[in-house]
Order: sequence, then structure tokens, then C-alpha cells
Amino acid sequence: MAEALPRAAAARAHELRTILTEHGYRYYVLDAPTVDDAEYDRLFRELVELETRYPQLRSPDSPTQRVGGAVSASFAPVVHGVPMLSLDNVFNASELREFDRRVREGLGAAHITYVAEPKLDGLAVSLLYVDGVLQQGSTRGDGRTGEDVTANLRTVRAIPLRLRDAPAGRIEVRGEVLMTRSGFEHMNAELAAAGQKTFVNPRNAAAGSLRQMDARITARRPLTFFAYAHGVVEGWTLPATHHELLALYRTWGLPVSTLIEQVEGVDGCLAYFEHVGTRRPTLDFGIDGVVYKVDGFAQRNELGFVAHAPRWAIAHKFPAEEVMTQLENVEWQVGRTGAVTPVARLVPAFVGGATVSNATLHNIDEVERKDLRIGDTVVVRRAGDVIPEVKSVVLERRPPDARRVALPAACPVCGAPVERVEGEAIARCSAGLTCRAQLLGALLHFVSRKAMDIDGLGEKLLAQLVDTARVKNPADLYGLAHDELAALDRMGAKSAANLIAAIDHSRNATLARFLFALGIREVGETTAVAFANHFGTLEALAAAAEADFPTLNADRAAERCPQLQAVPDVGPVVAAHVANFFHEPRNWEVVAALREAGVHWPDVERVVASTGALDGMTLVLTGTLEGVTREEAASWIIAAGGRVSSSVSKKTDYVVAGAVAGSKLAKAMQLGVPVIDLEGLRRLLAHALSTLS
Ligand code: IVH
Repeated sequence: MAEALPRAAAARAHELRTILTEHGYRYYVLDAPTVDDAEYDRLFRELVELETRYPQLRSPDSPTQRVGGAVSASFAPVVHGVPMLSLDNVFNASELREFDRRVREGLGAAHITYVAEPKLDGLAVSLLYVDGVLQQGSTRGDGRTGEDVTANLRTVRAIPLRLRDAPAGRIEVRGEVLMTRSGFEHMNAELAAAGQKTFVNPRNAAAGSLRQMDARITARRPLTFFAYAHGVVEGWTLPATHHELLALYRTWGLPVSTLIEQVEGVDGCLAYFEHVGTRRPTLDFGIDGVVYKVDGFAQRNELGFVAHAPRWAIAHKFPAEEVMTQLENVEWQVGRTGAVTPVARLVPAFVGGATVSNATLHNIDEVERKDLRIGDTVVVRRAGDVIPEVKSVVLERRPPDARRVALPAACPVCGAPVERVEGEAIARCSAGLTCRAQLLGALLHFVSRKAMDIDGLGEKLLAQLVDTARVKNPADLYGLAHDELAALDRMGAKSAANLIAAIDHSRNATLARFLFALGIREVGETTAVAFANHFGTLEALAAAAEADFPTLNADRAAERCPQLQAVPDVGPVVAAHVANFFHEPRNWEVVAALREAGVHWPDVERVVASTGALDGMTLVLTGTLEGVTREEAASWIIAAGGRVSSSVSKKTDYVVAGAVAGSKLAKAMQLGVPVIDLEGLRRLLAHALSTLS
């Protein structure tokens, strides 16, 4: 019995229908959605719930009673002999178990064999083969009536025009047309170069390509096809199961995804979901979940359908990687080099499996390029472990009172003027170490593992030392006494003693570590090693920097800082930062104070001219190398004229992997970059040396 119908429920159902129809039209017909899938699903479910509770609300025009959009006027309509249904969704394991329970109860079976498939993010099409020859190809349309796009589908190379060894009869093969990610990138680059409109994502690009009136344009688009279902079958007998049908499809020359597997029970489904989830980032095409289908056709017939979806199949969706949310505010963060960067404060949104409430906006140019305003609805993206980013603005949803974002004139932390060098994207606080944010950042960098490696000095502790004015620069760390540390929050006698020991230990430095710890702009770990090797002593480096200082404004880049640029891989920008750093008396005071506090290092054997043995080669070091520090290994490579990079790319010549090498090793294998061990590096250096002599 249906409940009595409250007015509010009727009004809400009407509203939901209007909203959903509009979104459906934008998505399917215009290919320009203004809501994400998650929001659409939410609204759709709300309507389904209302209609289930009050069946008198159901109307033939409800989006729950048909799926998709209208038929475009330009292609001939095709009435599907067997409707092209949609799939119901589940979003977690318990909803899936619920589905499996319904299937088992419906069939009176204790255990079900399913076929698990990727849910391909493209467009469903139906291909009619008569006696093995492609007669007609159509889109899904609204599920009952689609569009005749035969001419366009014939251009998709993955779709056979004639099946191999196919039986006589009429067979409708159904599947998905999609665009590969790589094909999409390539095509968009070409469109952009030709000054034409680019596509938002591969799905829209596939849709746009299929609806081309000129099949010659479709033919140039990188479309592909995978078969996963059937429609009308006449004059031929289907096998007993879906997996047998897919095997036949393959023998007929139809592409079937290699990810498809037969699985046992709901646990088999869940294991498959995990497995495909980990493969997802490596696939060249988009999938937005997996689909489980009862394997046996007799069982399927017994289960039948509900209004728009079969009872024998379900889609298990991945958490959305993109959601829409509101930009509540833009705040400014100050980093250790004084860089003032905008950070988006968002209405918390669940995306990529986590709740996101902040995202970096990089710099003010980026904010302006994306035309972000406070109050805007924005698309936020978070894929895998990647840092969340604001991808774009939904201009259609901009409220009239949306506020523009402006670069602050004063540092939000210390109030000093913010300066922006002409032509640079980054604006900076001009206060240096007197700005709390810069001082804290500089100290955190100074004590970090690859710098002075002072264990136990975290952000909270450093903040206390900075806020009590006990530490005003890195040298002050060496004057800290046991008792004052023990008196700080979260500290005791024991941890204070450990910290004192760690500080003391850090006095034994290397020149490279010390240079890196100083936090000179653009001087990373590897560049610091290069400077140390080239100059051998701090005095030699400082003398070169001082001698180079007057050349900073030379017209030609090569004439600026020639002595510093003589260091392998150092260009005019890095050289200028080094020259500026050593020219500044305040920096010298800190350096002098550090040495006075006992920080020291051995002189480096100076390698003036590189042997050139690894000239032009780029190597990446990863994992723990037995018996040598990474710094040492890096210095050998640099001394031999090579470059050490921190990330693996196609341009990497070798990856030197030690124990417990992780993602860099994996990347190398993926790209086919040669991987050697420490012994291999030694041999390479020795070999290179012998070819020189
Ligand atoms: S089977 C009766 N299998 O999902 C079941 N559909 O929501 C018919 N899709 O229109 C569909 N991958 O565009 C099926 N492996 C797969 C699929 C798949 C993607 C899409 C298809 C369909 C929609 C249903």
C-alpha cells in the first residue's frame, strides 16, 4: 500500500525531475555537464526513493523511467529490438552484498558465478551483424530509440566490418566506444595547435566524434571499441553463459577487454574490485568502476528486469576523482623563501576516497588564468595520492556576489611589503628571517634529514623557540641548553638530552650538506654537491661569488657569474641566487656564527675539470646503497660530468638502485630505463675512465 502523498513530496519530485532532465540533456546531448556524476547520482537516488515510497508519483516522463537524453535530429532514429538498459549502482561492499543477497534469493541458489568487467567510460553502441556482416551501428539514445551512426562506426578500426567464422543469423553485439587517454591528449594538442576547440575529457571527445555529421572527421579520431553484451539474436543459439559468449566474440574478431574475469560469489567480486582499482592508473582508457553480471543466461532470464535496469547486473563505482564544491576563501601562505602562495579553502568534499578542504592554487597567475573567485563552484580533482587541485570553475554557477582574489600588498604573517619581480609568477615577503613564517620554514629546512639532520626538532618545538625569540636564526640552535629545552611543552629531561646530542652530532657536517642547509634559493641537494665538489672549500666558493657579483646584470646570460656558471649544471639563475646570497652581510653573519658554534666539515678534494666520463648522462639514485652515502655516489657521478636527477623519466640514462628501492625503480622498469646496482655504477665509472685513457 502506498502512503498518503504529502504536498511537499510531490513538489520535490517535480523539482528533481526538472533538474535531472536538464542535467541529462546537458550531459548526453550538449556534452557540457554542470554537475558531477556523484551529484547527479545523489539527486537521482533521492527521486527513486521518493517514487518508491509514493508510487503514485511515478510518471512516464520521469528520468527514472528512461535513461539518457533526446535523439539528435540529424541522425535517423533506430528503435532497439531489445532495449539498451542502464545499470543500477552500488558504492560500497555492504550495498554489493545486498545485491548478491537479492540475486541468490531470486534464484534460490546458495552461490552465484559472476563475470566481472571494467565499467568503461565511453558510449554504449549496438552493432547489428547479419550473416557476419556489419549492417547497422547505433547509439543508445534514450535506451529505446538510438541514432543511426553506421557511417561513423564503420570508421572505428576496432569494429570489424565482417566477423571471422561467424554463424549465420542476426546478432546484435553491444559494447562501448571510447577514446584512449593517449589518443585524447594527442588529439587535443592537435586541435589546440589548429586553433580549434578542445575537449574536456576522453568521454566527451568520444561522444563528439561519434556524432560528427562528416564521417571523415570521425575517421581521424582515436576511437576504440570493446564488446561486453548482446541484443537481438535471431537464427542462432546463444551459448549458456556470458563468458562463453565473450570467448566467441574474441574468436569472431571482436575486441573484448582482457580485464574481464569470471569470479565466484560476492567475495570474488570484491577481490576483483580491489585488483582493478590498483590497475586503474596504468590503463590507457577511463573506467569509473566495475560491472558484475550473473554469468548464466538461464539465471538472467529468471531474474528479469526492473524499469530501467536488469536485476542480474550491477555497477560498483569507484569514488569520484572529481567533485564540485564551493570556494569559500583564498588564504595566503608564506614559505621558507618568502613565497606568498594562495591556498583554496573549500567546503569539505569527498573526492578520490578522502575529504578535501584545502587545495594549493600555486600562484596568483594561476588564479587569474582560471578566473577563480571566492564563492565560485569549482571542480576539485584528487586522483590516487596526488595532491588535490582546483581544476576549473563552473562559470554557469557563479553567484552575482563572487569576489575577485587579489595578491596582498603586505605579508599576511609579518606585515612587511610583498614584492613581485617583473616577469616572475611568485610574489615574496620582503622581510627575510625576521618574518616568522620564513624563519620557521628556514629552520625546518636547516634541521631536515638531507640538511643538518637534527632528529627530534619538529615544527611544534621550533615554533615555541621562535615565538619566545629564543631562536632568531639557525646558529641559535647550537646555543640551546638542556634545561631550557626540558622546560618546553611536550619535552622532558630525556628528550631534551637526546635533542642536545642530535644537535651536537650535526656539528660534523659536510660542505655539501651545509650549503644545502643554508637554503639558498634553487640550490637543492644535488646542486649543493656540485658546488662543494667544484670549489672544495666555502672560502673558494664565497670568493667566486663575490668576484661574480658585479656581473649579475650583464646583458648576455653567459656573461653573468662566469665562475659560478663553470660548475656543472649551474646556469645563470642558480648562479645569481648564489652570488646574491653570499653578497648579503646578514647571511655571512649566520655562516660565521654557525662555524663559531663548532659546525665544521672536511675539505673536499677539489675536482676542477670533470673527467667527462659520464658527460651528458642523467642518473637517478634510489634505495640504500651499501657502504656509501647517496651524497658520495652523487659526487662521483657529478665529478665524471654526469647529472643526478631526483625523478625518473624517458631521458634518464641509468637508475642506480640499492636496497628497498621503491617507486623510482618501478618507474624505471615501466619506462625501460636500464637499472644498475652500486657495482654497476663502479663499473660504469671505471669503464668510462678506461675509454678516456
Ligand atoms: S552492460 C543491461 N557492461 O554503462 C546491461 N555496460 O549504466 C547493459 N558500461 O550504457 C550494459 N562498461 O555505456 C555493461 N562492462 C560493461 C560496461 C557498461 C560500461 C556502460 C554502458 C551502459 C552503462 C549502463
